[in-house]
Amino acid sequence: MKNVRLGLVGCGSRGIGVTRLFKAHPDCRITTLMDRFPAIVEQAGKTLELPVAALFTDYERMLREAEIDAVFLACDPMIQADMACRAMLAGKHVCTEVPAAFTLEECRQLIQTVEKTGMKYQLMEQTRYWGFIDAWKKMHDQGEFGHICLAQGEYIHYANNWDLWTDVKTGERVTSLQRPADREVEPRWRSKVLADPIYYLPHTLSPLLKILGDRVVSVSCLGTKKHSYTYPEEYLAWSDIQYALMRTANDTVLLVGAGFSLPHVPRGPLSAHWYELRGTKASASSPRHKTDGFRLWKQGMTIYQEMDWSPAPLAAGTLQAKSGHGGADFKPVDTFIRSILDNTPLPMDVYTAVETAAPAILAVESARQGGALIAVPDFRLRQHDQQGNSPANGGL
Ligand SMILES: NC(=O)c1ccc[n+]([C@@H]2O[C@H](COP(=O)([O-])OP(=O)(O)OC[C@H]3O[C@@H](n4cnc5c(N)ncnc54)[C@H](O)[C@@H]3O)[C@@H](O)[C@H]2O)c1
Repeated sequence: MKNVRLGLVGCGSRGIGVTRLFKAHPDCRITTLMDRFPAIVEQAGKTLELPVAALFTDYERMLREAEIDAVFLACDPMIQADMACRAMLAGKHVCTEVPAAFTLEECRQLIQTVEKTGMKYQLMEQTRYWGFIDAWKKMHDQGEFGHICLAQGEYIHYANNWDLWTDVKTGERVTSLQRPADREVEPRWRSKVLADPIYYLPHTLSPLLKILGDRVVSVSCLGTKKHSYTYPEEYLAWSDIQYALMRTANDTVLLVGAGFSLPHVPRGPLSAHWYELRGTKASASSPRHKTDGFRLWKQGMTIYQEMDWSPAPLAAGTLQAKSGHGGADFKPVDTFIRSILDNTPLPMDVYTAVETAAPAILAVESARQGGALIAVPDFRLRQHDQQGNSPANGGL
């Protein structure tokens, strides 16, 4: 295979944005677009300059008839795990947007389907490729933090008016807190997923677990009541904030929050993201707002040292440097294409992906049970068994 023929499924803002990066990749060709709404896929065809014959509104038909080696899923996140399995069973490689799955059964199905079909599966989580994340990982690998006792982060992404509705005739996004009275709409995926904001835990866990080289073994979660304090008069049955408290196999405590309806001061270079590592020898943190900076403290220092770390990925090529999320968006595009063409390992493979999804799924369950501590399964157990190794087990 000289280049990868790719089909985009879900022609919303994220799908189009990342597909432009696939299109710019020298070893990838966009051959197919699919969306459940004809008007949306027709517009996407014009935007990405594809002929009408390349446009589909039926997923199974696309898998049967389209000239594709791989599928990029950027539709509603709740349906992506099932669609990923169907693509792999049809002999297509697949990459999907975050989060990877919404039930533990889906996590298992994804792993079983990858193992059965041998197709490539990659989660497109990109914040793990930020330059300062790789700098912190290098420091951790060299022992500069000592034992990292606490790793924490937040994904607090406030919008005063999310696009919560879909026009059922056109597929158009409708931005309104209340159900609009003047047109026929259905709730968009954001209405369902963002109401339990900790479902977005994978975005923060992905870089933290990459640094630690670890996995979550147990989780407890608390959130504000399922009735927004920011929008008390509105329809929204959202928790304004949820916080997950987790333990890893190698005994680090993780504390990660998420929220989509809690206002905050304008953010700095990492937008809605924030991270901190607290080790026995050193601590590091990222900026929380515009006048804040990256900071490092090492034993013996009396004040924090300002650091020139940045989100820009280390050794980024031109295409990567210009891509979204501070240059991180191009990286998973490239790792996916390279893996298909050169059979290189995927940094965010199916095991790594479900290790970010399962703690989120169980955090939502924990919040429903008032903060109950729940064990997270080890999805690599079968892999360990086959290799004759026993996995690290930190217990609850
Ligand atoms: N990694 C990131 O930084 C990032 C940022 C934004 C969104 N996302 C993820 O990207 C995905 C899409 O987000 P978005 O903001 O573009 O959403 P969106 O709602 O704007 O777009 C989704 C598109 O999928 C289409 N769709 C729905 N069901 C479909 C189906 N069965 N078959 C084909 N198409 C279908 C919709 O019609 C819509 O056009 C989500 O999984 C989201 O979590 C990731």
